[in-house]
Amino acid sequence: MTYMIENICCIGAGYVGGPTMAVLAEKCPNIKVNVVDLDINRIKLWNSKNVNEIPIFEPGLAEIVSKIRDKNLFFSNNIEESIKEADLIFISVNTPTKIKGLGANYASDLKWIESSARQVAKFAIGHTIVVEKSTVPVRTAELIKTILNSSEDFNLNNKNKYKKTFSVISSPEFLAEGNAIKDLRNPDRVLIGGEDKDSIDKLCNIYENWIPKEKILVTNLWSSELSKLTANAFLAQRISSINSISAICEKTGAEIGEVSAAIGSDSRIGPKFLSSSPGFGGSCFKKDILNLVYLCRYYGLDVAAEYWENVIRINNWQKDRISKIIVDKFFGTITGKKIALFGFSFKANTNDTRESASIDIANNLIDNGAKLVIHDPRVSQKQIEFDLKQSPSIFDQFQESIWVYEEDIMKAVKLADAIVILTEWDYYRNLNWKLIIKGMRKPSWIFDTRGLISKETLKDLEINFWSLGNGCK
Ligand code: UDX
Ligand code: UDX
Repeated sequence: MTYMIENICCIGAGYVGGPTMAVLAEKCPNIKVNVVDLDINRIKLWNSKNVNEIPIFEPGLAEIVSKIRDKNLFFSNNIEESIKEADLIFISVNTPTKIKGLGANYASDLKWIESSARQVAKFAIGHTIVVEKSTVPVRTAELIKTILNSSEDFNLNNKNKYKKTFSVISSPEFLAEGNAIKDLRNPDRVLIGGEDKDSIDKLCNIYENWIPKEKILVTNLWSSELSKLTANAFLAQRISSINSISAICEKTGAEIGEVSAAIGSDSRIGPKFLSSSPGFGGSCFKKDILNLVYLCRYYGLDVAAEYWENVIRINNWQKDRISKIIVDKFFGTITGKKIALFGFSFKANTNDTRESASIDIANNLIDNGAKLVIHDPRVSQKQIEFDLKQSPSIFDQFQESIWVYEEDIMKAVKLADAIVILTEWDYYRNLNWKLIIKGMRKPSWIFDTRGLISKETLKDLEINFWSLGNGCK
């Protein structure tokens, strides 16, 4: 087939679909890109007059949207029309972990992938290339193909009968939130998996508008799907590895920053992804490892399954360990203590809180009776309420487990017994610690789980300081 791709539809206007299509449309001004979503409110926000109100915060995204929205980038709920018009469709819907049924707590729930495929089968016209963009378990393409191939003929003008044809390829997304626009404009690589050479060439041509040819890797479908899961599993494994070492550092007197720098300078190990933390979060790492574990078990590879499952075990252990240390430093009781949590997103530069370590640590501290004051530069009170599954309350001496949201950092720390830094927002690096500590109730503590402040910064100030991987030095 010789036609060029002129019209793209992306189903799913989330953290992946939105930014990915914004960069694609920016780099391919001749292609019309329709991003569609079931969620009416989300689309309304994408179309907000004030681009700062778009639903996803990513550095650089609002600028692209303001430049090309309604030129060749469109956001709508018009799924049917957009599928009909499209030569190529990206499926970018969410694939959460199943909570019941076969594979519960491990396998991904593919109901959204399935319903998207059904919509494509129903509305597509002529030949359509379908690209899996969502992270999916290996062999999901088979499911999509089966649904698409059972679609009926389409009768155009009541004269010409066209058999709908589809080809399914995989092109998983490797963007990291907070860095998405940079990752999309200048990726380490893009991956295309599939068998149909013509479709692969067409997607390559699109990517080649801004990505050097040598960075476009073509594999078979299953390698592409498995590579995405494996890349995330390896990254998560590095974090669990360094987090396990952070605990050993605290016991032995070694310093985690020094150990990370020392091992990271070995070019075989490399310096990235060696920052100890309260545990990895985000929508992908845990879900993808659980998928891998499920896949291993399915094929009877139990030892491999256990190996990967331990990456998650360490991650949970790290969150529990930190919560226990906080309680311990207050001699086993934090009931009624005012604790300010700095950071609720799962990492800096995003408003995403999915699987954030802050959720578990906040819940642990609330269970222990603390009064939490939560601050985050980008996460809303409504989101925190959703994640903690309870409304904020007004501080009251008769209530035991409560939390409040506070935008003003000075109010958040006033008379606080402790500050716990959980997200590495730059904003927290540059605070006036002298002033903050002055307003706290003595004896007070700072717990830094992101290596944000050095002990020199706090020298001569009246504060107890614990930092992850260093302890109380
Ligand atoms: C992504 C990936 O696509 C997923 O595979 C990955 O593992 C997690 O991240 P993300 O973009 O982060 O998903 O998810 P989300 O922000 O929840 O966006 C998905 C969007 O798809 C939502 O806006 C939802 O309304 C939409 N959707 C879902 C549809 O439009 N149609 C559906 O049938 C289902
Ligand atoms: C990840 C992958 O990086 C990306 O390629 C994939 O497409 C989606 O999943 P994301 O979850 O957005 O991206 O963020 P990432 O930067 O990988 O961070 C994930 C978690 O690991 C965060 O909670 C972060 O704080 C934590 N992390 C990261 C560490 O604890 N230490 C590190 O050194 C790096």
